[in-house]
Amino acid sequence: MRLQLLLVLSAVICAAGKPLSKATARKTKLLLVSFDGFRWDYDQDVDTPHLDRLAVDGVKAKYITPPMLTMTSPSHFTTITGRWVEDHEVVHNMMFNPKTNLKLNHKETLKRSEWWDNGVLPLWITAQNQGLKTASFHFPGGGANYSGQAIHRALVEEVGQPDDNETEWRQNIDTVLSWFSEEDFDLVTLYYGEPDNVGHAKGPDHPRRKEIIRQIDRTVGYLREAIHRRGLNDILNVILTSDHGMTTVKKRPLVDEIVLNKYLNLIKLASFEILDYGGFGILTPRPGKQQEVFDALSKAPNLTVYKKHEMPASFHLANSERLPPIVIVADLGFNLNSRFIVYVNKGDHGFHNGEMDMKTIFRAFGPSFKSNFLSEPFDSVHIYPLMCQLLQIQPAPHNGSLAVTEKMLLGGSRRVQRSVALLLSMLSVFTML
Ligand SMILES: *[C@@H]1O[C@H](CO)[C@@H](O)[C@H](O)[C@H]1NC(C)=O
Ligand SMILES: *[C@@H]1O[C@H](CO)[C@@H](O)[C@H](O)[C@H]1NC(C)=O
Ligand SMILES: *[C@@H]1O[C@H](CO)[C@@H](O)[C@H](O)[C@H]1NC(C)=O
Ligand SMILES: *[C@@H]1O[C@H](CO)[C@@H](O)[C@H](O)[C@H]1NC(C)=O
Ligand SMILES: [Zn+2]
Repeated sequence: MRLQLLLVLSAVICAAGKPLSKATARKTKLLLVSFDGFRWDYDQDVDTPHLDRLAVDGVKAKYITPPMLTMTSPSHFTTITGRWVEDHEVVHNMMFNPKTNLKLNHKETLKRSEWWDNGVLPLWITAQNQGLKTASFHFPGGGANYSGQAIHRALVEEVGQPDDNETEWRQNIDTVLSWFSEEDFDLVTLYYGEPDNVGHAKGPDHPRRKEIIRQIDRTVGYLREAIHRRGLNDILNVILTSDHGMTTVKKRPLVDEIVLNKYLNLIKLASFEILDYGGFGILTPRPGKQQEVFDALSKAPNLTVYKKHEMPASFHLANSERLPPIVIVADLGFNLNSRFIVYVNKGDHGFHNGEMDMKTIFRAFGPSFKSNFLSEPFDSVHIYPLMCQLLQIQPAPHNGSLAVTEKMLLGGSRRVQRSVALLLSMLSVFTML
């Protein structure tokens, strides 16, 4: 009787286990989509039926917090590496060198491996090293080589590329979905430059921004329809996210704008600077002048000045080698002008990541995700281990935690529950006998 029970029990476990191992073995694919500068609440004053539908069919986070340095390249690179900015060292949108005074604009950095490749491997490379096929469509960092290795396929945004052409947005979706369905890619990252551009040019409250959100919403609808049309519903997981929010720039006559040269003689005290770039400024003092610079800027209103090594631990910037010794973070909405006010943006980011206006979005759907699941807010650094889990690969060392994000997944726990239920029902049959 004992033996029989054991045999039956193990048969039950096997029966419960068999379809399971098949299910776990079925590989899913992952599409990561980023809409640059999508503030967390941009869908709240616009009608967005497709995004609303997505929240019912999938996962939505109330908002997520980008890493400190709420800028495009630093934040995207944290998402794709799971590392803090001080570790991956992509510390600005511009590539710079204080020794040579080199400064390159964001788009010019996109194929410069020496800016991106600082010993931290992004997800594409880690996935490729474990046998997966990966591609990047315009995603920041996708155009560089890492330890001499290129991403299998990378399209890089060209200078002057239009950002808001809806026809092209749909073509890009068709392109990346064909990579999945016709060429068996496992991971593709897709980047769109909106609503960041419109946020800078018009400000976050402008009707044109709302129009772009409607366009993004239609694009999300198109994406879902195209996934369905290609029969990818059961194998493709999709994460929609972004890199930072956007806030209205404060201007005269509402406020006195900050002109730093009023507080310190920049030529005399600084050998290198990137200012006039929104609310985040960096500066290398001339030899022996660090304290003088720090003291002068400490007296300036509407900003906080930091010595790099004394920045709050929560910024995860203090250990960066690349960041210059002085970092200035303006109060929300203020621009750091160096000498004159030449700045024209009506909206900007780069401010403290604790500000609600800097928070951004996270949505996900697909076979591995729960439906109608509203997640509490989390730091974007935790997206990385989630992506590794979805792709079933071993993550590289990272600063995220799967425990934060795995609640969104249907995961193995449901399968275990199912086998336990089966077992219990068998046992109840035995007790009846
Ligand atoms: C990446 O490496 C390949 C092959 O070594 C080389 O042809 C290409 O120019 C490199 N690209 C970048 C962006 O460094
Ligand atoms: C948008 O892109 C399509 C396809 O490339 C092109 O035919 C069309 O002229 C573009 N529209 C605008 C307004 O640039
Ligand atoms: C900016 O600084 C001035 C001077 O300290 C202060 O009066 C003002 O309230 C500040 N503005 C904002 C918006 O914080
Ligand atoms: C981030 O992760 C790296 C790699 O594991 C580790 O060396 C570093 O100490 C971590 N940073 C923090 C703040 O935990
Ligand atoms: Zn951005």
